[in-house]
Amino acid sequence: MSNAKPDVRHYLQFKDFTREEYAYLFDRSRWIKAQFKAYQRYWPLVDRTLVMIFEKASTRTRLSFEAGIQQLGGMAIYLNTRDSQLGRGEPVEDSAQVISRMSDLVMIRTFEQTIVERFAAHSRVPVINGLTNEYHPCQIMADIFTFIEHRGPIQGRTVAWIGDSNNVCNTWLQAAEVLDFNVNVSSPPGYEIKPEQAGLSGVGHFRLCADPMEAVRGADIVTTDVWTSMGFEAENEERMRDFADWKVDAEMMRAAGADAIFLHCLPAHRGEEVTAEVIDGPQSFVWDEAENRLHAQKALMEYLLLGRVSQ
Ligand code: CP
Ligand code: NVA
Repeated sequence: MSNAKPDVRHYLQFKDFTREEYAYLFDRSRWIKAQFKAYQRYWPLVDRTLVMIFEKASTRTRLSFEAGIQQLGGMAIYLNTRDSQLGRGEPVEDSAQVISRMSDLVMIRTFEQTIVERFAAHSRVPVINGLTNEYHPCQIMADIFTFIEHRGPIQGRTVAWIGDSNNVCNTWLQAAEVLDFNVNVSSPPGYEIKPEQAGLSGVGHFRLCADPMEAVRGADIVTTDVWTSMGFEAENEERMRDFADWKVDAEMMRAAGADAIFLHCLPAHRGEEVTAEVIDGPQSFVWDEAENRLHAQKALMEYLLLGRVSQ
C-alpha cells in the first residue's frame, strides 16, 4: 500500500506548473537573488531536509540544490546509486516510501521519466526532476529567468534549438506551450523531435527547420546542448559525424541578430556543438544561466514546501 499524500505537488516536467505559477516563481527568483546578493539571511526552510538522489553525474544541479537548501536554512543529504541500496535493486516504490518518511523534499536525477513518476506516486513529500532522459525542467526555468532578466518577457519570442532533440530540447518545447513562445528546431536527420515524447498537447509552438541557419534567423535565444547526452555514450562516434554541421558559430549568431543571446545548459564541448568564439563571446549568457539555477531552484523549493509567500 502506498502512503503517498494525494495533495502533494511535484515538479516532474515543465507543464506541471501554469503560466501564472511561473510568473510568481520568476518574481520570487528575482527577490531571492537580490537577498542573496545583499548578504541578507533568509531562512524559511529551517529544519527542512532535502534528499538528492543522483543516478547520473552532475556539477551544477548538485551544487545549486545543496547550496540552495542550505542558504534557505535547511540541509541536504546526497545519495547515489553506487553506494546506496538504489544500485542493488531495491524497488523505486520502496525507496520512495522510506526516503520520503525521513525528509521534506526529494530531488532525483535518473534515466527514464517513469522512474521519477513511480517515485512521486509513492512519496509523501514533493519530488523534483533534476534531469531524466526525457526532461530537464529546472534547467529551462533558470534559462527563461535569465532571458527575462536581460531581455524582458518571453511571451511571443523565438528560441532557436540547434542539435539533438534531447531532454533539454523537449523541455523547451513544453515551456513554449505553457508560456506562449516559439521554438525553431533544427536537428540532423534521424535525430528529430518526437512530439509525443516531448509531452506536447498542441501543434502551434514549434517549427522544424532542416537548415540550422534558417532556425536562427531572427531568433531571440540561440541554444544548443551536447551531441551525446548522459546514457547515450555508446553512440558517441556516430553522433560526432552526424552532428558536424549543427555547430553554433559566429555566422549563426550574426544571422540571429545583435540582440540575440546564446544559452547552453553546460557542460559544453567547445568545437563540437558550439565554437569557443560564441560561448566565450559577448552574446553568451551561460554563466548567468548557470548561476540562476541556484536562485530559481530556491524559489521552487520554497514554493513546493510553503506555497506562495508574500515577503
Ligand atoms: N546543466 C546541468 O544540469 O549541469 P550538471 O549536469 O552539471 O548538473
Ligand atoms: N542533455 C544533457 C544535459 C546535461 C545537463 C544530458 O542529459 O547529458
